[in-house]
Amino acid sequence: MNPVRDWSRETVWILGASSGIGRALAEELATRGARLVLSARESERFTAAVESCRQQADVTAEPVDLSDAVEVHRVCERVEAREQPVTTVIYAAGVSQRAALLESSEAVVDRVLAVNFRSAVTVARRLGRRLAASGGGRIAFVSSLAGYAPTPLRSMYSASKSALGVMAASLRAELSRSGVGVTLVVPGFVRTAISESALRADGTAYGIIDPNQQDGMEPSACARRIIRGIEGGRDEVWVALGFKGRFALALGRLAPRLQQRLLARVPTSAAET
Ligand SMILES: NC(=O)c1ccc[n+]([C@@H]2O[C@H](COP(=O)([O-])OP(=O)(O)OC[C@H]3O[C@@H](n4cnc5c(N)ncnc54)[C@H](OP(=O)(O)O)[C@@H]3O)[C@@H](O)[C@H]2O)c1
Repeated sequence: MNPVRDWSRETVWILGASSGIGRALAEELATRGARLVLSARESERFTAAVESCRQQADVTAEPVDLSDAVEVHRVCERVEAREQPVTTVIYAAGVSQRAALLESSEAVVDRVLAVNFRSAVTVARRLGRRLAASGGGRIAFVSSLAGYAPTPLRSMYSASKSALGVMAASLRAELSRSGVGVTLVVPGFVRTAISESALRADGTAYGIIDPNQQDGMEPSACARRIIRGIEGGRDEVWVALGFKGRFALALGRLAPRLQQRLLARVPTSAAET
């Protein structure tokens, strides 16, 4: 627990702020008066997100490629050196996968693990020390339903999101006496570009919006639910699961062998799709 009562007293670092849920979080928090530090890779859409938030808030852009460990340490150094220290970190960056594990290149495996998990660990370790030393704050990680209901062609995505959840639970316990709260966000289906930028076996973008995302919750509605959860100091925020998400979770818990049989029918190569 570590509720937020007044966002205008908060400096929030959002990683993955150029698009989808992260951008929606940035825009919602800008309207609530939070001071923002925004990160994603340098691009036109990142600049657009920063400019949009600057209409309402004090915004610092900190571009970074989260697949590059050296860059991640450098951006942490810059953020740690701020005059206005960060009080809340939201790690919303993520990259998905649309390729069978045995066909995926090592580079794809490494990139998914680095962006979704390894860099989140670096950010949590570095900023977590700062927050604990200052006596409070919070860290939120955006995981995924896929981390709890595995799906073919997303092995590394599911594994990275599952690892994020377990790490967050351990970290929460370790920080419980420090005044630093840890929130795990588990979205189901949100209308974003996550499937378009998912990596194929050779590292190229999948380029297709999945029907699950097309029919998913609006990012702004998802962001408001996440913000309410963080405001309430919640340990976990499960959002946008819908019937499909709830069914997948229940099936895994109640009938895991049936779940495996159904998953085995999902096409796993281009020839089958
Ligand atoms: N949409 C859903 O249905 C859904 C469901 C469950 C979980 N999630 C999770 O929600 C989070 C937000 O995803 P989204 O749905 O909003 O997708 P999105 O629109 O594709 O946003 C992904 C964000 O991650 C950033 N990112 C990706 N690779 C990066 C890299 N190498 N370095 C820095 N930033 C990088 C992107 O920035 P760049 O401009 O640098 O690419 C972008 O800001 C992700 O963690 C995702 O796994 C989404």
